Amino acid sequence: MGQRPTATTGAANKADQYGLGSYPAIIREPLVAIRMLASAGVVATVDHVRTISLLRLHNRLVDRRRRAKFVDVLERATNAEPLRVRSTTPEEVVQAVHCAPLPSKTVLWAIDAAGIDPAEYDLVDVGSGWGFALAVASELPFRGLTGIEFDRGFHDMAVRNFDAFAANGSVAPGRVALKHESALEAELPGEPLVVLLANPFGELIMARFLDRLAASVKKYPRPVVILYVNPTQAHLFDRSEVDEIALRGTAATLLRLFSPYRVRAYRWNG
Ligand SMILES: C[S@@+](CC[C@H](N)C(=O)[O-])C[C@H]1O[C@@H](n2cnc3c(N)ncnc32)[C@H](O)[C@@H]1O
Repeated sequence: MGQRPTATTGAANKADQYGLGSYPAIIREPLVAIRMLASAGVVATVDHVRTISLLRLHNRLVDRRRRAKFVDVLERATNAEPLRVRSTTPEEVVQAVHCAPLPSKTVLWAIDAAGIDPAEYDLVDVGSGWGFALAVASELPFRGLTGIEFDRGFHDMAVRNFDAFAANGSVAPGRVALKHESALEAELPGEPLVVLLANPFGELIMARFLDRLAASVKKYPRPVVILYVNPTQAHLFDRSEVDEIALRGTAATLLRLFSPYRVRAYRWNG
């Protein structure tokens, strides 16, 4: 596998993008908004402010307590490190989205709103970072859980976290399979599958990943549901074998009103 891509990933968040990453939040956030207004317009700025505000709220009200149970966390969005990455092509590093966990409520509401019965599926988190979403999913009775993460540093953090959970009895040993692999090489479980995509990568890699998923469904026909959070490449799901699932119920309303990220769900027909 290619171990030394030369390209670097982009800024891990808007503050870094505008060169404001080192400022305290009270100065940083208004400055980011002002710069965004000038460069990206009102709609994008309002959307950004909503996302940041809701992320803070989720963290303060719910996820701070959850994070405290992990032995190894990243305090802020962090880019994959090219020297640590296991990739099939340099574009995977260029197209990688930074490591930052989803709010737990977004994961739980998405599963509920898509009508998924965890007892019928394995779940695979493609781009599993340090394991936060997997830990949330492990509280539900999924048949199996797998994380695929191409950055060795993030993968090792997830391994340490789940080792600690196994030691303190909160997650059974071996319940979560963690793979230090690229999304473009990992074998997907041949069981009925929920694929969690927390906006891990850009268009080129997503297109290649979906082709691999198509081949996997052809080889092992089985129900496959995709939960695509922050669906920046949703147009790629406009394929004959894919149907969008309408999100329903209270969880769909909660997602719409209170999730920092939008969610789309798809069924892949074999
Ligand atoms: C937004 S984070 C997701 C965090 C995780 N799903 C959670 O919610 O706890 C995206 C992750 O995808 C990983 N990633 C990006 N491109 C990848 C690829 N080609 N193969 C595997 N992992 C990748 C990044 O390193 C990053 O950790």
